[in-house]
Amino acid sequence: MDLMEKVVSLCKRRGFVYPGSEIYGGLQGFYDYGPLGVEMKNNLKRIWWDWMTVEHDNIIGIDGAIITHPRVWEASGHVQSFKDPLSECKKCHHRFKSDDLESNTCPDCGGELTPPRDYNTLVATELGVIENEKTKTYLRGEACQTIYLNFKNVVNSTRVKLPFGIVQIGKAFRNEVTPGNFLFRQREFEQWDLQWFTKPEEMETWFEYWKQERMTWYRSLFTHPENLEFYQHEKLAHYAKKAFDIRYQGREMEGIHWRENWDLSRHAEYSGQDLSFEGITPWIVETSGGVDRTFLFLMNDAYSEEGDRTILKLNPKIAPYKVAVFPLLANKPELVTKAEGIFKHLRLNLRLSTVWDDRGNIGKRYYSQDEIGTPWCITVDFQTLEDDTVTIRDRDTASQVRVPIGELDTYFTKKLK
Ligand code: GAP
Repeated sequence: MDLMEKVVSLCKRRGFVYPGSEIYGGLQGFYDYGPLGVEMKNNLKRIWWDWMTVEHDNIIGIDGAIITHPRVWEASGHVQSFKDPLSECKKCHHRFKSDDLESNTCPDCGGELTPPRDYNTLVATELGVIENEKTKTYLRGEACQTIYLNFKNVVNSTRVKLPFGIVQIGKAFRNEVTPGNFLFRQREFEQWDLQWFTKPEEMETWFEYWKQERMTWYRSLFTHPENLEFYQHEKLAHYAKKAFDIRYQGREMEGIHWRENWDLSRHAEYSGQDLSFEGITPWIVETSGGVDRTFLFLMNDAYSEEGDRTILKLNPKIAPYKVAVFPLLANKPELVTKAEGIFKHLRLNLRLSTVWDDRGNIGKRYYSQDEIGTPWCITVDFQTLEDDTVTIRDRDTASQVRVPIGELDTYFTKKLK
């Protein structure tokens, strides 16, 4: 099994990610997050949001609708230009994104391919109940459009001044020609976007600032930051004058885009509304990352094997559970009661995501927690009943320390700083 197969299998087995609509045979390009996956994804999104809005000045957020007025996608240029070239095999009729092909031969059967045809990747939908009176519109092809639509609302309802940013985390939808590679290319996915509005003369400075800031942020999350790099695009999206990717092992995770005044000018033109501010149409630096791609790359990055042990070396801040609590023996009520007290305290008082396990032997419980990335396991044993100390075992080093129960709060607060 290669790494990706191992990660996909772990994700399903331990409840991180399940194939979408599985009981009906699945639906290509759609996935559901399970109990552990949703915890990890929420942790990621919370860290991103706090970093943007708390650790930077002048950034505020919105949460826009997935469906917008159909004119939005004409103004944004997506109806005209959001296209992927598609080639079809004349023999087996499999379809491919022409950009991914190295020759004119079908990678599956060796048949001849048709010349590339453009194919719009917006996902259309219809609103209204009466046939022939329905309105055709689109699910957002990129989440950021709702930020531009609300630009005037935000400046009128807050006290922002240039330069400032609006952030949003939200779903986007694309009718990808070749969804695949697990979470990498889906038809429904989530983006975290910053749109930074600036004066044109400060654009270069801010573009470089956000490029570096975003790389620093990703580096702080990954166990192997040396796998992250910038890549400059030569082929640009219709809205961008300059674009860099942040890539993990050569694959795109986030785009840093020089959008200039394309979006606000186009929406001003198509809506007839004045979208200027402080006497200009602000220019935009966009940082637009994939939440699911980050999740996938973090799983690959964290996955390791030592002998017959699988260890998910996730940064503790994003691990689904921070702590596991075990009574040494499940059939000794004194141990169970003591362990339950700690379990409840960590969850309810310290607000730590904590899991309980009293099955099998301690060794098996450690293996089980290692596989889902739980950084620390607490065991309540007979010594605990005598001196109120517990063992804390570290996921990455497998070393154990003995800590008084009264010092657990300080211990974990320091560790998670
Ligand atoms: N608003 C700009 C924008 O949407 P993009 O480069 O097309 O730019 C930004 O998308 C990020 O969204 C990508 O870097 C990637 O992480 C994620 N993304 C794009 N298409 C995706 C797909 N089909 N499946 C999963 N993530 C995707």
